[in-house]
Amino acid sequence: MASSLPAYAKLQSLYDTGVPTLPALFAADPARFKTHSRTFASGDVSLFVDYSKNLLTPDVLATLFQLAREAGVENLRDAMFSGKHINTSEDRAVLHTALRDLPAHFAAQKSGEPGVTDVPRVLAHIKAFSEAVRSGAHKGYTGKPIRSVVNIGIGGSDLGPVMVTEALRPLAARHLSMHFVSNIDGTHIAETLRLCDPETTLFIVASKTFTTQETITNATTARTWFLSHAKDNKHVAKHFVALSTNKEKVTAFGIDQANMFEFWDWVGGRYSLWSAIGLSIAISLGFDNFEALLRGAHAMDNHFATTPLEDNIPVILALTGLWYDDFYGAQTHVLLPYDQYLHKFADYFQQGDMESNGKSVTKDGKRVDYQTGPIIWGASGTNGQHSFYQLLHQGTKLVPADFIAPAQSWNEIKVEGGASGLTHHRILLSNFFAQPEALAFGKSEAQVRKELGPNASEALVKSKVFEGNRPSNSILFPKLTPAVLGALIAMYEHKIFVQGAIWGVNSYDQMGVELGKVLAKNILAQLGKPEDVTGHDSSTTGLIHQYMKWRV
Ligand code: F6P
Repeated sequence: MASSLPAYAKLQSLYDTGVPTLPALFAADPARFKTHSRTFASGDVSLFVDYSKNLLTPDVLATLFQLAREAGVENLRDAMFSGKHINTSEDRAVLHTALRDLPAHFAAQKSGEPGVTDVPRVLAHIKAFSEAVRSGAHKGYTGKPIRSVVNIGIGGSDLGPVMVTEALRPLAARHLSMHFVSNIDGTHIAETLRLCDPETTLFIVASKTFTTQETITNATTARTWFLSHAKDNKHVAKHFVALSTNKEKVTAFGIDQANMFEFWDWVGGRYSLWSAIGLSIAISLGFDNFEALLRGAHAMDNHFATTPLEDNIPVILALTGLWYDDFYGAQTHVLLPYDQYLHKFADYFQQGDMESNGKSVTKDGKRVDYQTGPIIWGASGTNGQHSFYQLLHQGTKLVPADFIAPAQSWNEIKVEGGASGLTHHRILLSNFFAQPEALAFGKSEAQVRKELGPNASEALVKSKVFEGNRPSNSILFPKLTPAVLGALIAMYEHKIFVQGAIWGVNSYDQMGVELGKVLAKNILAQLGKPEDVTGHDSSTTGLIHQYMKWRV
């Protein structure tokens, strides 16, 4: 267990001794920015990561790397890439990285996992189908081209496609409107169907297992709606496709195997946007852009797989996060993209991180005696500044933050009457630079007193002080292209991997979602008649009876 490793004890004593403040660390080391930043550059992908505004001394950093080594991060990483069954509870390989090891390099995949060599075939299927939909060659049952695409899926079968299609919207085919239905709440499918025409709508039923209640229920409703117009089952083939690992269930649902895009059990749901689950991405953005996304991720995979820990960006981000999580008691980590197109990024990594590392038992069944995965949250800048940043700056909690921004915008809009060169994006980025600076360096009481003058009340003075010393990373890239986005997502995936490896948890199962599902199934069977409601605590029983009084 991590806490019994020598490096862990050393980190505890370094924490107990006290770490100088961020202003002190910067004052003591003029080269801090240079030594505490890394550039990732590969082909057309560049990312710059500044981690200098973290509460790290050389000793702390060296001990964090020692912890990664003692925990066997490198061995586990190599085991993952080579297809060892590191998802031990489900006895599965974790090979989403193989999905972005593009066809030309595919010979390198020697894991022997079933399906690995089929990846190029499925990619070719995605290419052909997405191009046919985009060009209008794929026609609906009345001969009209597709205009609306509805992805029906939830969790990993929804969040990745939504996040990426939103992030790269400037490249989207504008003649296709993309919809994503996830919630079992009938409102979600009802409001979406109101926007669609059955003659020109394609439904993508995305579910790894093809047993997920929300997805199968929504897909059934979509099919009923479709058939109420099309009248003939034979038309389903032109309007419904499935993305799944489960051929039997897809066939049982009535979707022809020719309309099925396959993936495999070594692709975790929250790591599946690179697989057939990315079909809606390829349709919206074009296959070339989908490929570029994969290429960017693959470049980051290579960096993660081969770079020494001290220069390995996902490792650095993982270790700094773990430092706050385990030693400072930070409960959350906030993702702050300064790019409106990334407005779903935090939602996406909420599942990516919290479903992966939100665990309290190690792979060998021991209860951990340290903190594991942080609560991930966030919003795009500058919106967040006008809602929750107050707490980040002056609240009682330590909230480590990642600021993320492109140097160039897809919408460089000049501000009329502004200074020369003034654009919306320049204003946005001034905030991207200012917020981490304010968090780290704050504003002293002396400064506040000087500004307010001698007559200011003590209360006012105190309320205007910013303590500073609040850590953050800043991640900058030239422009949010498909390849850059691929690399950015893969960077966070590997960060999650490293943290999970050190904490000793299985980052690739999700047992914690099961109990609620089972109880809901049991309750659903009792919701017909009050006398059927049995076997619950008094609160649950009371709530169900109250619902029964009020329901229609
Ligand atoms: O919430 C549990 C979960 O299994 C996620 O891990 C997964 O992404 C989601 O449900 C959807 O699962 P499926 O793709 O099998 O419908």
